[in-house]
Amino acid sequence: MNNLLRGWLNLPPQASTYAQDVDLLHYFVITSTMLGSVFVFLLAVYYVFRYRQRAPRATTPRVKTSAPLEFLIIGGLQTLFLGFWVVGASMYNHMQTPPSDAMPIYVTAKQWMWKFSYPDGRASMDVLTVPVNRPVKLIMTSRDVIHSFYVPAFRMKHDVVPGRYYTAWFQANTPGVYDVECAEYCGVSHSRMLGKVQVLTQDDYTHWLEGHPVPTAEGLIGATATSGGDLAKTGRAVAARRGCFNCHTIDGQPHIGPSWAGLYDSYVKVDGGRVVYADEAYLTRSMMDPQADVVLGYKPVMPTYRGILQEPEVAALVEFIRSIQTQPFPPSVTLPRVEPLGSGQPQEPKP
Ligand code: CUA
Repeated sequence: MNNLLRGWLNLPPQASTYAQDVDLLHYFVITSTMLGSVFVFLLAVYYVFRYRQRAPRATTPRVKTSAPLEFLIIGGLQTLFLGFWVVGASMYNHMQTPPSDAMPIYVTAKQWMWKFSYPDGRASMDVLTVPVNRPVKLIMTSRDVIHSFYVPAFRMKHDVVPGRYYTAWFQANTPGVYDVECAEYCGVSHSRMLGKVQVLTQDDYTHWLEGHPVPTAEGLIGATATSGGDLAKTGRAVAARRGCFNCHTIDGQPHIGPSWAGLYDSYVKVDGGRVVYADEAYLTRSMMDPQADVVLGYKPVMPTYRGILQEPEVAALVEFIRSIQTQPFPPSVTLPRVEPLGSGQPQEPKP
């Protein structure tokens, strides 16, 4: 039944864990609305004959419906539409909430390509390589205009906006190669902003992690990723270079700003009494728009780093902060040498 309807509707394969659920809702909505329209159409045709004008100037009889019937029709339709919404909303919620054990991969969109950065420091253009049966969390941003990351086979789509970071997740359930498309008009080569996701078996993935090309015999792409060193290590260097350590510590000690140790995946009390969950979105928002969530007890003195930090630097910083989530550095650790205040400070972006 699933495959029959999928064929009729010309849908791509269902290659993620939630793809089939999305399709089932799709079938349900499309079947009930189609049956509804056919029913209304047939009824209209029937009424044209049933209530046609039989003699010149003759009027049709006044038709009165019983109240229970009206309630039944209105209530029934209302229930049906609310049903669409309840199922859709709970699925949306599921698709928007990455599992906590999801593997992070950073996605940067730019005219007209996709760049993928892995936590181990590797990066690849236009080809995303993931293992099968493992949740993967994409942390996405754009360098220029709005794009939209769309993998039809995963039934996954998310807009990517410059200056903001979004997370989306999927868990691929079938090894293979699937299309990545840009689903937001972003300039002349929008239609050619294409990529691939290659989903590897656990063995192939381990092989790929070791730096070998993927066996192309199975129709896979065979791309390796270029290595750029450990992303968290890069993040630590970025933090030193950009003067982050002038205000933030990584040993849990408060300084001019809150410490980064144990920050990720915690709940932060901010000005105004709100509590904010410290995920990738919060960390990047705090770099780009530091006044948005000032941590309680700290002064709003941090300048914005919008336009100063490059996207790969932001990804590296987030990965670094993530890496000291559970292992705060002992207080004895020596911080990397930083430039004295003033010389290492970022310039305010020119208007
Ligand atoms: Cu990027 Cu359309």
